[in-house]
Amino acid sequence: MFAVLRDSTGIIQVTVKKGNVPDAEFENATKSGIESSAIIEGEIAEDRRAPGGFEIRASKFQLVGNSEAFPITEYQSTELLLDLRHLWIRSREQTAVAKIKAALLRGAREWFYDNDYIEVTPPIITGVAPEGSTTLFQVKYYDRIAYLSQSAQFYLESLIYSLEKVYALTPSFRAEKSRTPRHLSEYLHLEMEAAWIDNEGNMKVQEELVSAMVQNVVKECADELALLKRDVSVLKKVEPPFDRMKYQEAMEYLQKKGHDVSWGADLGAIEERALTIDRQVPVFVVNYPKELKPFYMKENPDDPRTYKNSDLLAPEGFGEIIGGSERETDNALLIERLSETGESMDNYQWYLDLRKYGSVPHSGFGLGIERIVTWVCKLDHIRDSTPYPRTVARVYP
Ligand code: 4AD
Ligand code: MG
Repeated sequence: MFAVLRDSTGIIQVTVKKGNVPDAEFENATKSGIESSAIIEGEIAEDRRAPGGFEIRASKFQLVGNSEAFPITEYQSTELLLDLRHLWIRSREQTAVAKIKAALLRGAREWFYDNDYIEVTPPIITGVAPEGSTTLFQVKYYDRIAYLSQSAQFYLESLIYSLEKVYALTPSFRAEKSRTPRHLSEYLHLEMEAAWIDNEGNMKVQEELVSAMVQNVVKECADELALLKRDVSVLKKVEPPFDRMKYQEAMEYLQKKGHDVSWGADLGAIEERALTIDRQVPVFVVNYPKELKPFYMKENPDDPRTYKNSDLLAPEGFGEIIGGSERETDNALLIERLSETGESMDNYQWYLDLRKYGSVPHSGFGLGIERIVTWVCKLDHIRDSTPYPRTVARVYP
């Protein structure tokens, strides 16, 4: 009787032969269904016919948990696999993605540690909306309304006055009604904020951090990348410095390529794809028009129509993985822009205090972890970058 055995390190073929194990164990082996759990002992033997070139010749087969007929067979619809997500995450693709995600996170934490950043823990339940009120999730908070965090940015800004360089890894929530292959309602957000850093310094941090994360995957996840058929030679090229392109230049490039865009147009999936399809290394787009970005960014003195900000676009057609900027330090400007958003000022008094009681130039950014996983693994859809994707259509399982 042949079986495929799986543990966290991989899979191997097992042969259970009558006579090599006690009769009762052989019985159990033959009646155990796909996905049964077992403790197996035996000899490792070379066998060129076996996948991986080795097999286990069992001397013991202890059935620990038998399995009923497994509901996932070879060809299944995407919807069914999402309904059975709690079982589908055992698949080899999902396992590879999970390990690559962990390697990206480990690479990031190591980079921050090596560069003297302090990890902090901002709240998830909040009263502020850094990225605008249209994508907020409301929570009933006792007798008030609060929101699920879109970004930890304002809290990180408050922590630089004592800790200087901070980062946080927290879930962020966006009520994104549009169904796209790159939006989740809940995603993991890696954010950093640092004092005494301008927009150019902010981009240096991003290119070093992203390179360190990707190179850690190259180093630790060769098997997983091979299983996903990912071209590793492309990933190896992800090293600083990344190109920088002004928003204005991006517009000109797009117009030359026949896109019907002009100054003030946002860069959506289609435009970002056109900007990055022929690239193998991420590229920064800098100095967006103010009307496209949130109120907290620092005006660009060289072109006051724009901010000192950047989006980092992943190559190969992928698009945005990071949004970042230098922050406005002038309270009068912040109050003016904030009042235009229509938000209740009461919720922002504490944020405005941060410019009242001492103030330093500072910058920061947010990296979408599932976005970088999707690009590094070259997945078709962001939902496969996380075990339990949350989208408009789905909170089960
Ligand atoms: O560009 P965003 O909205 O910027 C901010 O939230 C800033 N306050 C961050 C900061 O400066 N601390 O979001 C940052 C990143 C995006 O570049 C993208 O990678 C990811 O978060 N992101 C999403 N990922 C998955 N699903 C969504 N709905 C996402 N929305 C943003
Ligand atoms: Mg953005």
